Amino acid sequence: MADSPDFHAAKAMLEWQIELGADEAIAEAPVNRYDTAPPAPKPAPAPTPVARPAPAAPPPPEARADEAIATARALAAAAPDLSALRAAMDRFEGCELKRGARNLVFSDGNPAARVMIIGEAPGRDEDLQGKPFVGRAGQLLDRMLDAIGMSRTADDPDSAVYITNVVVWRPPQNRDPLPAEIAMMMPFLARHVDLVGPEVIVPMGNTACQALLGRTGITRMRGKWTDVLGRPALPMFHPAYLLRNPINKREAWHDLLTLRARLRDGT
Ligand code: URA
Repeated sequence: MADSPDFHAAKAMLEWQIELGADEAIAEAPVNRYDTAPPAPKPAPAPTPVARPAPAAPPPPEARADEAIATARALAAAAPDLSALRAAMDRFEGCELKRGARNLVFSDGNPAARVMIIGEAPGRDEDLQGKPFVGRAGQLLDRMLDAIGMSRTADDPDSAVYITNVVVWRPPQNRDPLPAEIAMMMPFLARHVDLVGPEVIVPMGNTACQALLGRTGITRMRGKWTDVLGRPALPMFHPAYLLRNPINKREAWHDLLTLRARLRDGT
């Protein structure tokens, strides 16, 4: 113990430390704080994940169809005239057919006409020109009307017709419009009929009958007066059907005469 302080020196050192406040032994060995590396900063706590709502699942197709019908009803009801109705249909995003179509095919003819003809949907030519019944079926329709002294270009409401379709956008590959597409276009069509106010409606073909009368079977329904949206209606063969089945032009002629008699004499 040659280097160790003697008892009295050691006691004096301890007393001096106690006086300074170092009165408690914490560890066996002294710690040189200058040698100690600064403690590594504590890793930042992982951010608590913010509870985000799970992305909403897209609504089922039926819910989307119901929503589209409700939107169509609201837009149609708010249209005070034909140009507003056309603009409202142009704004309507509920129908997928719009995305594949070049043009909205709204109508042709004279809105003052006593007769409103309602076809199915635009085909290729109608989609290109933005006018209903301008292709081969439309040319046949014009000849049929001409045979009873009527036309879409007439100014006189007695001999004029006004023409539209159930669906205003061309279905791909000219397929039939789907029931959901017909249902979402119906509020627009009903408003269209209201705004034109025709004396007589002529639904042409099964799609128009399905939309306006809730049933098909044009062969049985054609040529018989019925009621559509509170107005007299005379279903007829669609001219595209007559192009494929010219034998049925005989019945179509009979129906045209029935229409003319009603307009002339109210019979
Ligand atoms: N067929 C229809 O039903 N409408 C048209 O506009 C053309 C062809």
